[in-house]
Amino acid sequence: MIIDFYTTIVFSHVVSAVLSIGPLFIIIPLINRLIQKGEAEEEIYFSMIDVIIRIVMHAGHVLVVTGVLLILLGPWPWYTSWVVMTIIVMGLSGVFLATGFTRVIRRFHDPGIDKLWVLHKLKRTTWIYIGLMIIMLWLMVQKPMFW
Ligand code: HEM
Repeated sequence: MIIDFYTTIVFSHVVSAVLSIGPLFIIIPLINRLIQKGEAEEEIYFSMIDVIIRIVMHAGHVLVVTGVLLILLGPWPWYTSWVVMTIIVMGLSGVFLATGFTRVIRRFHDPGIDKLWVLHKLKRTTWIYIGLMIIMLWLMVQKPMFW
């Protein structure tokens, strides 16, 4: 059994990919409950969503760092087409996570804000983000050569 540094990084990369995508699926039912239930359990559901987004963000950072290490140490040059495509999609998801999630979460507690609107926006952002993550997962696993 050979456990080398490179395969350990690949494994860490895959674990961080799991933690960057999986928790997002829990956000959707939590938002649905918030939409249905209203005030009473609002805070607890919202802090759970906050924690999930934090986990996804930290895992996302590990994903990028390990990804960069794989490029530096492995056989794939950075300009390989599936790597370039992943980096482009990753840039898009960064924008989504920063503007879509953190700004919306902060606005939830603004006085006079339409909370239902915030929740629907959060749900939409979550689905878009899941979509982008699935596209990147596909690029990483299939490794399609576009050029
Ligand atoms: C900066 C962005 C990224 C870079 C530079 C990068 C780089 C790489 C490289 C070079 C490999 C090949 C390892 C090997 O098989 O020798 C790999 C594998 C993998 N990556 Fe990434 N990655 C990035 C982002 C992502 C993202 C966003 C995801 C998930 C959404 C992801 C999921 C995976 C998975 C599941 C594998 C294993 C696939 C396989 O070995 O068949 N990566 N990554």
